[in-house]
Formats: sequence, structure tokens, C-alpha cells
Amino acid sequence: MSLTRRKAIALIGGGTVFAASASTAAFLTTRTPQKALAPWDAAGGYDDPRLNALSFALLAPNPHNLQPWQVELVGASALLLHHDRAKRLPETDPQDRQITIGFGCFLEQMVVAASVAGHSVDVTLYPEGKDGPIAHAAFSEGARPDPLAGHIMQRRSCKEPFEDRPVAPAQANELELFADVYTDAPTVAALKDISWNAWETEAYTPRTMQESVDLMRFGKTEINANPDGIDLGGPFLESLMLAGIVSREVQSDVKSVGFQQGVDMYREMLMATPAYVVLKADGNTRTDQIEAGRRWLRLNLKTTEMGLALHPISQCLQEFAEMGQYYAAIHDLLAGPGQTVQMLGRLGYGPQTPRTPRWPLEAKRLDV
Ligand SMILES: Cc1cc2nc3c(=O)[nH]c(=O)nc-3n(C[C@H](O)[C@H](O)[C@H](O)COP(=O)(O)O)c2cc1C
Repeated sequence: MSLTRRKAIALIGGGTVFAASASTAAFLTTRTPQKALAPWDAAGGYDDPRLNALSFALLAPNPHNLQPWQVELVGASALLLHHDRAKRLPETDPQDRQITIGFGCFLEQMVVAASVAGHSVDVTLYPEGKDGPIAHAAFSEGARPDPLAGHIMQRRSCKEPFEDRPVAPAQANELELFADVYTDAPTVAALKDISWNAWETEAYTPRTMQESVDLMRFGKTEINANPDGIDLGGPFLESLMLAGIVSREVQSDVKSVGFQQGVDMYREMLMATPAYVVLKADGNTRTDQIEAGRRWLRLNLKTTEMGLALHPISQCLQEFAEMGQYYAAIHDLLAGPGQTVQMLGRLGYGPQTPRTPRWPLEAKRLDV
């Protein structure tokens, strides 16, 4: 559950939490986790074309911002992309399907970034079989810059309510090149229903909720120490932490007022959705999942270019037992026989949200 300033205001009901002393107020002005955000400014600053492309790739969207990637430069012009197996989501992603989609996003962002420097990348998936590296990538001269590259730095997963206005039909049509787009009232209503029920199911299943709580980083110090997971930072949230209103214990306790208000805010956000995007695949192999990730990344860069906000919502696509009825419902609604819905997202007009933390490239290299 991501809580931003707007949500924090809702959480305290507009009331006064505590009277901040001068020293507390000064403390709260210094809460940006600069170290955790530094990889955004480091992107593009490398001489080796592989490192340069990787420095953008690691800004890709990925489930729970786990950043499960590890990279190994090979020879003068290739690299291997590995999965750090310590980074998984066994409760909500038992088959590593979403994690694999995240690797697809990473690979596509790497290829798009490489193109700007005139490099094409020949990607071979699972070169040593399904238990080996995710991909081998060979860089060579001779690509034309991909125009989507210009949107990497502004791309976000927008976890906010969207404005109460429909997605313009011309924009929806343009996006159909990238994904299935649903703007009609009956389908939008059905998807709101499924996505809300699925979200509640994950939130009220203790082991799946706890998986998220364990990945929450509370405040600047925790975020800088572990720049991944679900970052709860900024002056407002940190003031609530100081007041004991936001804490790991509160987030784990479904009976607490803080948890319940979080549920209300998530419902408000999910309902404030004028349209949805869907990526389906005819199969559900690792290759299908990587391909879905590559498509999602291009979609997310395109929505950024078009001034649209995009937010993945994956709960109803998750393969744990309690989610079964909503997994079936979304497939009944959207998928043909044998097809798997790989990604579902909210689409609309939303605010530009802050950058999310990343581990630096240097922390992800196996070859140094
Ligand atoms: C496969 C996949 C599934 C995701 N599922 C969700 C989700 O269910 N809910 C959500 O809020 N964000 C979801 N995200 C978005 C990530 O949380 C987000 O990419 C990450 O926190 C980094 O933030 P950024 O995309 O704004 O850079 C998903 C991303 C991917 C690639």
C-alpha cells in the first residue's frame, strides 16, 4: 500500500497530529531519500554502452520494486541478465510470473536506451535453459534511436486516483497498437468490481498482506538503507510515523484505524478509474511473460508521451488459492480459450508522482 502526501492528509482526517517543535519541523524538511533516488541522476553517465543501457534499464517498472536483477558483463560487448533468487514474492507471485514480466520491462528499457547511442541488442532468452540466466544480450553498432526513449525519465506507475474525465477516443485508439483498451461503461464497471474484490482478498489474507508489509520501508533512513520495496517516505508520512499513526505494526493490524483508512483510500483510488488496459497472451510460458513485460514497458512509455497515467493492478491475476474466483472472473471476462491475462492496468489522467528508489547499478553487478 503506497501512501503519498494526499493519502497522508486523508489518513489524519485533516486534523492536527501534533504540534511540531522547531527542531522537528527542521527535521521534516530534510526527508527526501537522496541516496535512494541517486540512480535516476546517474542514468546515462557511463562510457561502456552496456553499462549505459543498464543504468536506464534499472529504472524499469517491476513488482513491488524488488529489483531482482543481477548483471554480468561478458567479453567486450555482451552481458548476462540473472535473477537474484533471493528476491521473489512467494505468496502473491508463487510462479514468478510477475517477476518475469518485470524482467521483460527491464530488457525492453535496456534495448530502447541502447538505441539512443546507436546500438542494437540481440537478446537470447534463457540461453542455458529455464534455471539459468534470464537473457544473454549482445550489443552491436547500428540502431536508430527509438523515440520512446525520451520518456524513460518521466515514466511512472501512478498509484493515485485519476481525474473524473474519460480517456479521449483518439488516444484510446492510438494505444490500441500497444494493448487492449477498455473504456465502455459495462466493462469498466466489471473491472472495478473485480479489481476491488481482488485487492481486498490480498489485503485480508494474512500471509499475502504480510508479504507486502515486510517490504515496506518506513522513512528516509530505511529507504536509503534498502532502496527497494514499498517506500513510505516524505515529510507528511514521516510526521505520521513520529506520531505513531503509520508503522509496521499498524499496517499489519487489520483492525487498526490506520489500516482501515488505508483500505478506504485504496478503494477510492481504484474506483477513480475511467479506463483499463489489458495485455493477454496465447500462452503462459516464460517467453510469453517476458514478451508481456516488453509490451508493458512500451505501453508505459507511450502513455507517458501522451500525458496519460498508467497503474498496474495485479491482484486478480495472482495465482494463490484465495484469489481463485477473481482470477477466474477476469479470465471469463477478457480472455479467450487458453489465453492468460498477463497485465491489467488502470488508465486515465493523473498527477506526475515522485521517482521511486533504486539500488545503484554497482550493487547489481556480478562481475566486479
Ligand atoms: C508485473 C508488474 C506488476 C505490478 N503490479 C502492481 C500492483 O498490483 N499494484 C501496484 O500498485 N503496482 C504494481 N506494479 C508497479 C510497481 O509497484 C512499480 O513498477 C514499482 O514500484 C516501481 O515504481 P515505478 O514504476 O513508478 O518506477 C507492478 C509492476 C509490474 C512490472
